[in-house]
Amino acid sequence: MSAATPVLPPEAVAKSPLPRPAGPCVMVIFGITGDLTRRLLFPALYYLAQQKLLPEEFAVAGYALGDLDEQGLRDKLAGDVRSAVANAEGAVVEWLCSRVRFVCAGFDDPNGWKRLHEVLAGLDEQYHTGGNYLFYMATLPDFFLDVARRVGDEGLLKQENGQWRRIIFEKPFGRDLTSARELNRDLVTFMREDQVFRIDHYLGKETVQNILVFRFANGIFEPIWNRRYVDHVQITVAETVGVERRGGYYDHTGALRDMAPNHLIQLLALTAMEPPSSFSATALHNEQVKVLEAVPPVTPSECKYCTVRGQYVAGVIADNPVTGYRQEPLVSPISQTETYVALKVAVDNWRWAGVPFYIRTGKRLPKRKTEIAIQFRNPPLTLFRKSRTTLPQANRLIISVQPDESIRLEFDAKIPGPVVTTQQVDMRFCYADYFGVENRTGYETLLYDAIVGDNSLFKRSDMIEAGWALVQPVLDAWSTGSGRDLHFYAAGSDGPDAADAMMEHDRRAWRPL
Ligand code: BG6
Repeated sequence: MSAATPVLPPEAVAKSPLPRPAGPCVMVIFGITGDLTRRLLFPALYYLAQQKLLPEEFAVAGYALGDLDEQGLRDKLAGDVRSAVANAEGAVVEWLCSRVRFVCAGFDDPNGWKRLHEVLAGLDEQYHTGGNYLFYMATLPDFFLDVARRVGDEGLLKQENGQWRRIIFEKPFGRDLTSARELNRDLVTFMREDQVFRIDHYLGKETVQNILVFRFANGIFEPIWNRRYVDHVQITVAETVGVERRGGYYDHTGALRDMAPNHLIQLLALTAMEPPSSFSATALHNEQVKVLEAVPPVTPSECKYCTVRGQYVAGVIADNPVTGYRQEPLVSPISQTETYVALKVAVDNWRWAGVPFYIRTGKRLPKRKTEIAIQFRNPPLTLFRKSRTTLPQANRLIISVQPDESIRLEFDAKIPGPVVTTQQVDMRFCYADYFGVENRTGYETLLYDAIVGDNSLFKRSDMIEAGWALVQPVLDAWSTGSGRDLHFYAAGSDGPDAADAMMEHDRRAWRPL
């Protein structure tokens, strides 16, 4: 880190050596005409292809209902990539889209499955994909189990003669603890656990992976990463977007289910976990589960002051007026669904006892911002009290995940002059200064890892259940009315007043967005 942000000459920008292209395979996308494929999967495949991380022996088979023919689907996907990727290289888009085949059918249509077998056999022959299949559940979650079971019944999960078969499951993985457990239990009745890849795209983000490197590849932070030095931790995932085209899904889901058991809890686990004994998938997963199991369940009476539910009403973001949640398409005009949630949780272990973790996420907030702020305790003695004009501020370490990818340490410094007065300043490391800016969706690493069979950045079944176990008591308390009040906030504001009150109750404050 350096006090002044360094601007490096272009030749100094570091690049990690590219891994080798993944091995031969067909990626089968269930729900290829949907939003996820459009916004994230195809742009991610494009970036992989552009970096030559997909082999020549690669193809895509899409399965979905729709009114497109095969060429129509290819054209649509090419258009999707061009709108998601600035200056997409025509040859790469063409390379990728020419390898797409389409099975246009319902998931319960026997002819569709027959055609899928034909398409896969054809692709194996044409592109030498070797019978290796990566299935991707980009469908509505209600279809996950039935479609996966059907893939198994069709014999497409059999791994013989060195061929591999895997399925990636999108989130949400279950609607609550019970359904997540059932899904985990049912899947392994027809496939092996090491064929199940449960995705959380936050784990594909460079800055999220860097939390581990920052903590465990450096010697100076770990000694102060505990209750003796840390006052509290704030984890924020703020979005400016509303529910976009997903009102139908979101209105039955809400901010807590949509973001907490997965992304927020993942950030918490990486921040609070103990050092793993190695960087193997098992060691990493074990430590994450262990720390999540140390979070005590929120009791119904605590829920009133440890959780806040909010919903946005009309407001202004970046000078643009936006409508309220209840006016969004496919949202009930009397919806009680939360679009904002704030939680206070404890981690009852030797390292963190007494250190609260405050977590918040919301839609239609003034800024897109995902960060983890570690706030340290004040110095034991305020030596400069007499001479200062402002009270000292606590030191903070801010790990900014997006949109600016950086790590910043905030501390007090003397303002030059004859009188001793202080001001908060910071030391900052920005990814862009050292490593350039790469356009990425977060899915590239994960798709690549799934093809090469590395599941360290995917979730093990117990990690999913530990995430839900943390959220379930809140859902239960809300269902009995405790903490269920819905607090409205104007779009473009920092969230409901009740969330500020939650912090004030603890004599703390949220970092302004
Ligand atoms: C998804 C949620 O998992 O994550 C969305 O379903 C949310 O509601 C999105 O907008 C946030 O992801 P990112 O990468 O934009 O922070």
